[in-house]
Amino acid sequence: MSPNALIGEKSCEAVDGWQLHTFANLPSTNPVAGALSAWHAVRADVQTDGRGRTGRAWISDAGGLWLSAVLPAPGPRKKWSILPLGAGWAVIEALREIDVTGLRLRWPNDILAGRRKLAGLLVEQFHPDNVVIGVGINIDNRPDALEASLAGRTIGVAELAGHPVSIETITRLTLGAFRRLQSLIEQDRFSEIAADINTRWGEARRVQLSLNGHPEPLTGYFRGVDPEGRLSFTDDHGTTHTLDASQVALLSEVS
Ligand code: BTN
Repeated sequence: MSPNALIGEKSCEAVDGWQLHTFANLPSTNPVAGALSAWHAVRADVQTDGRGRTGRAWISDAGGLWLSAVLPAPGPRKKWSILPLGAGWAVIEALREIDVTGLRLRWPNDILAGRRKLAGLLVEQFHPDNVVIGVGINIDNRPDALEASLAGRTIGVAELAGHPVSIETITRLTLGAFRRLQSLIEQDRFSEIAADINTRWGEARRVQLSLNGHPEPLTGYFRGVDPEGRLSFTDDHGTTHTLDASQVALLSEVS
């Protein structure tokens, strides 16, 4: 058994500079990754208590990618506040490598094909020097078969690609994209990808914005992010606000 092996795992292998631990099932991959050091990643075939953002459950049946990656995040915390935003972009970049294109971001890091959700991210910090990016990507699983309210609201990579795609391939591409993102942020080069991120929001969307500590939500248009990763929002009175991602409690599209 490898010295890096964890109790209960199916396999432990080196993948492009990562140490990848694979389990048949776990309650959630994020807390398991949270106990590991940087450049370890944890994948489960099934999560029995998958967690989404804002305390929601995340359906994690067999056939999807449920992966948590531990990235080093040294130095000031503020520098890394753009990581959750960049992580959504990184997943889009990874899927572009298998010719799945035309995806868009919904703030802060949901990945959609049109109005249907393909992937989501839950970024958590368990240790001051590391960040855990938890990513769930639907591939050929069917969340709507387990949760009727999701009918017509999700989509998988297999349907978009038009052919079967292995979880192992998407795992490798995603880990590679996270490594490149980490390096860009570490070297203060986020501005190089800000413009590309802005092409992924699609057309300017009418949104409702709730700020931390402000009871009344604002409505207006989401304009994208600036080179430092701050959100640009024009309210209904025509005032443009530039906000750090950490100030935003919720930004939802208004249809
Ligand atoms: C969301 O869109 O609400 C975020 C979903 C995040 C799901 C992933 S799957 C791997 C990791 N483990 C979890 O329990 N959640 C994240």
